[in-house]
Amino acid sequence: TFAPPAARARSARDGRRATQATPVLSIVAPTYNERGNIRPLVEAIAASMGDTRWELIIVDDDSPDGTCQEVAAVAREGAPVRCIRRVGRRGLSSAVVEGVMSATADVVAVMDADLQHDERLLPRMLETLRTTDADLVVASRHVEGGGLGEWSAIRRRMSEFATWSSRILIGDAVSDPMSGFFMTRRAVFDAVVYDLSQQGYKILLDVLTSSPRQLKVVETPYVFRDRRSGESKVEAMIILEYAFLLIEKFSKGLIPPRFVLFAAVGFMGLAVHLAVLNAMKIAGLAFLPAQAVATLSAMTFNYVLNNTITYRTERLKGLRFLVGYVTFCGVCSLGAVANISVANLTMSEMHSWPLAGVAGALMSSVFNFGVANRLVWGR
Ligand code: GDD
Ligand code: MN
Repeated sequence: TFAPPAARARSARDGRRATQATPVLSIVAPTYNERGNIRPLVEAIAASMGDTRWELIIVDDDSPDGTCQEVAAVAREGAPVRCIRRVGRRGLSSAVVEGVMSATADVVAVMDADLQHDERLLPRMLETLRTTDADLVVASRHVEGGGLGEWSAIRRRMSEFATWSSRILIGDAVSDPMSGFFMTRRAVFDAVVYDLSQQGYKILLDVLTSSPRQLKVVETPYVFRDRRSGESKVEAMIILEYAFLLIEKFSKGLIPPRFVLFAAVGFMGLAVHLAVLNAMKIAGLAFLPAQAVATLSAMTFNYVLNNTITYRTERLKGLRFLVGYVTFCGVCSLGAVANISVANLTMSEMHSWPLAGVAGALMSSVFNFGVANRLVWGR
C-alpha cells in the first residue's frame, strides 16, 4: 500500500481521522500522455517523502492514452493521488494553475510527471521553505551541482536563448527561470493568479513576472533526468507561446499576445493582397475588379491563418467555419471604413501620407482584432 507508515498506524486506531489528515505538501503535476509514468512517479514520491503527509494532483488534458484512468487505478490502491481531467483544453501552464488552485496543503510543489524532475529534492525544498523567509524554492539546472542531462545541442541553445531573453523582464536574480520544478506557498499563487498569462510552458516565469512584489527566491541544484517512458510535448508552437508570454509581460498586459499574431497575419495578408493585385493586372483585369479579387483573397488568407494559428485553441470547423468566414469578411469591411476615416482625419491634421497610412492600418487592425475576437471566435 502507498499510505505512509504514520498514517497507517493512525488509521488502525481510528479509521476516519487518518484519511481526513491534511497533507503538508500538495504536489501538482501536469500530464499529457504519461500513463506509463504515473505509477513510478507515485512510488518515487512516496519513497522520498517518508512520513510527511502529501497529496499528488495530476492535471491531465484528457490524454488519449488513459493517464487519468491509471491515476484512478493507483488511487484505489490507497495512494494519495487524484486526477483533474480537463476536456477540450491544452496547456502546461494553465494546467498547473488549475492544480494549484485545487490544492489542499498550504505548500505546493510543481513538477513534471515524467520523472525528469528529481523527486528526492522535495523534502529538502519543503524544509527550506519552512525554515527560511523564501517565497519560492526553485530547483535549478544552472547552479553549482545542477545540470541538463543528455540534451541535444539545439535544445540547449534554445533553453539558453529563452533564459537570456527572460532577463529583460526579471534580471538575473534567478539562474533557471525556465525551471518547471519549484515549491511555494499557495498564498503566493493566490496573490498573482488573476495576473497570470497562463500561456504556454513557463509557469515559473509567469509567476515571477506577475507578482506585485519582489519574490524571495532560493535555488537548489538538480540534474534534469532523461525520459524513460513517453515523449516530450515540446513543439514549435511552444516557442511562439513563450514569445507571447514575454510580449504580454513586457507590455504590462497592454498588448494581448493574440493581437501580435493577428497583426502579423494581417501583415502577411497585405503581401497576399499586393501579389494578387499584381497578378490580376498582368492578366489584364481593370483596377476595380482586380482590387475586389485581391481584397477577397487577402481576407480569406487572413481568416484561414487566424483560424489555424491565432485561434488554434478555439478553431472553427464545419458549418461554424463558414459562418465565421462570412462574419470575418463583414468585420473586415467595417474595419476598412474605420481605416479610411482615420487615415483621412490624420491626413487633414498632419499632412503626411505615410503617417496617415500607418494610422489607418493600425486603426483597422485594432478594430478587426477587437471585433473578430469576440464575434468570430467568441473570446
Ligand atoms: N496538462 C498538460 N497539458 N500537461 C502537459 C501539456 C499540456 O498541454 N504539455 C506537456 N505537459 C506535461 C507533460 O506530460 C509532462 O509531465 C510535463 O508537462 C513536461 O512536459 P515535457 O514535454 O516532458 O517537457 P520537457 O521535458 O521537454 O520540458 C521540461 O523542461 C523545462 C525545462 O526547460 C518541462 O519540465 C518544463 O516544465 C521545464 O521547465
Ligand atoms: Mn519532460
